[in-house]
Amino acid sequence: MDLDKAIKERKSTRKFSHKKPDWRDLIECIDSVRFAPMAGDNFSLKFVIVSDKKKIGKIAEACQQDFLAKAHYLVVVCSNPERTINAYGKRGEIYARQQAGAAIQNFLLKIEEKNLATCWVGHFVDNQIKRELEISDEVNIEAILPIGYAFEKTKPSKTEIYEAGVFVARYSQDWRDNKNDVKISVFTGKNISKEKGMKPGLWKVGRSKTITIKKKDIAKIEK
Ligand SMILES: Cc1cc2nc3c(=O)[nH]c(=O)nc-3n(C[C@H](O)[C@H](O)[C@H](O)COP(=O)(O)O)c2cc1C
Repeated sequence: MDLDKAIKERKSTRKFSHKKPDWRDLIECIDSVRFAPMAGDNFSLKFVIVSDKKKIGKIAEACQQDFLAKAHYLVVVCSNPERTINAYGKRGEIYARQQAGAAIQNFLLKIEEKNLATCWVGHFVDNQIKRELEISDEVNIEAILPIGYAFEKTKPSKTEIYEAGVFVARYSQDWRDNKNDVKISVFTGKNISKEKGMKPGLWKVGRSKTITIKKKDIAKIEK
């Protein structure tokens, strides 16, 4: 994927589809963090993959953000500033956090390239996460990254609606009686309702559109 496209199209996702990502793709995204700049080349990070549903639920609680519980994986980004502090004193603490940010951005762009989705989550109760994952005190939790595919509400195309309409028309009274073009009503689920006392099989239709199904298309599927 073109770098400019990845940078511009990356966005936070908070609703995931049921499709589970291949863990190999996730590993590839994590591998991209090796190429981020690190002060003195001291790599201070660990990316922990959480796949256990119960643990994911507990971490979602620690973040007070329900959408995390719906992710297939969580990646918990941890940094240990020990080596950067040894090399640079107090500034080493800042470097460890800055290089975590650089690494996370690599990861986010790679996630975009793989057509996966995530959201950088920085709001959480540190101790709750550390307890859940048995992470020691000197380690910083930098971010939680829920992983999945973005949930997309796709609209059917005009062709798909027409094709479905051919089948509806094929079994209509109009077709049986006249064997000619058939007009059908097109509406979505949110345009139908049921009022008290309506007989089974009857629905009230709000907004609908009429389309004409051509005789020749119905004849084709009747053969
Ligand atoms: C340090 C940091 C912490 C964040 N924490 C959260 C968070 O706790 N929950 C959340 O839903 N989004 C969080 N975000 C995501 C931002 O809300 C998001 O990046 C921003 O709204 C811009 O949207 P975009 O990522 O789609 O471009 C965080 C982002 C950063 C960089």
